[in-house]
Amino acid sequence: MEFIDLKAQYRTYQDELEEAALRVLRSGRYILGPEVEELEEKLAAFVGRPYALGVSSGTDALLIILKALGIGPEEAVLTTPFTFAATAEVIKRCGAHLIFADVSEKTFTLSPETVIKALEEASQKGLSPKAILAVGLFGLPAFLLELEELASSKGLFLIEDACQSLGARARGRPSGSFGIAAATSFFPAKPLGGYGDGGMIFTSEAELYEKMKALRVHGQTARYEHTYVGFNARLDTLQAALLLVKLKHFPAEIEKRQEIARRYREGLKGLPIAFQEVPEDCLSVYAQFTLVVEERDALQAFLRERGIPTAVYYPKPLHLQPAFRDLGYREGDFPVAESLARRVISLPMHPFLAPREQDTIIQAVRGFYGA
Ligand SMILES: Cc1ncc(COP(=O)(O)O)c(C=O)c1O
Repeated sequence: MEFIDLKAQYRTYQDELEEAALRVLRSGRYILGPEVEELEEKLAAFVGRPYALGVSSGTDALLIILKALGIGPEEAVLTTPFTFAATAEVIKRCGAHLIFADVSEKTFTLSPETVIKALEEASQKGLSPKAILAVGLFGLPAFLLELEELASSKGLFLIEDACQSLGARARGRPSGSFGIAAATSFFPAKPLGGYGDGGMIFTSEAELYEKMKALRVHGQTARYEHTYVGFNARLDTLQAALLLVKLKHFPAEIEKRQEIARRYREGLKGLPIAFQEVPEDCLSVYAQFTLVVEERDALQAFLRERGIPTAVYYPKPLHLQPAFRDLGYREGDFPVAESLARRVISLPMHPFLAPREQDTIIQAVRGFYGA
């Protein structure tokens, strides 16, 4: 059994994928090009934004957004400590001050209350918050409208880290549509994954889009006219061609993920397990299906012995990581994130998980609890 069965997905779309790859290989054009433009157009429409920009990874997407907004050493950016390192890393790479705020016990994401408190504390310390970087964790973009309103009332930018949540919705709006700009990732294990690294930026601001487009290719605004110090952060033609194939199947895959999540919730009812709660007005794409349990390590070992792969996202919150030690945070500063890090475990989740495999997983978890 696979945790995320990318091989099964490849076999299912094999003919279409190989045809697309061959077309690019035979075209002689491998950087940007019409496939990237088509993917940008289709995904812009998918998230309901006028502009999309294909880039080399989700990390670069976030970095380009921050740089284009002019965020640097004078500013501070607030984010969650319960996320993948890239979210926080890009803030430090801009030289900006990084502020963490605790997450909601229910959704595992930044909640407006924790953000308000952290912003007040930051101002008392003399910091100048400029942006909130909110993450759609495990596929769930919770509280994004609330955070968008909060950011705008305080004159801050909201940036959406939609690296795990493309295809999800909050308050009827697609993930990727919130804030001044949003970033997503096409890392292979993501809900819409490619066959290598890749990412995309979404925005509704024409000027910001033009600047980010320049930053993607060495700050070039015309051939050999370097207006900014930029990056080499282009999306490969080959990735775009393969992603166009996968995009056709993406809505059906999102449906499958809903079905699988429903079966997990039903099958695991009555056990001493909490789930990541999806608020009524949100749709998760279940990049992960995550449980909160007290005996996490014992459950993981029990499932491993029965051939069931699981994963722990994330075992150590970012404020306790050596890379962010200089910020001065200590154990106890973000009790919810710390407690989740000790108790979360993710079960196999992908659109090709067969009902029989899922029954085996459910029965094994029930067996652990003697149920
Ligand atoms: C929340 C989050 N932000 C950022 C990233 C970075 O994306 P990438 O791996 O494409 O650079 C990832 C994924 O890896 C992620 O999960």
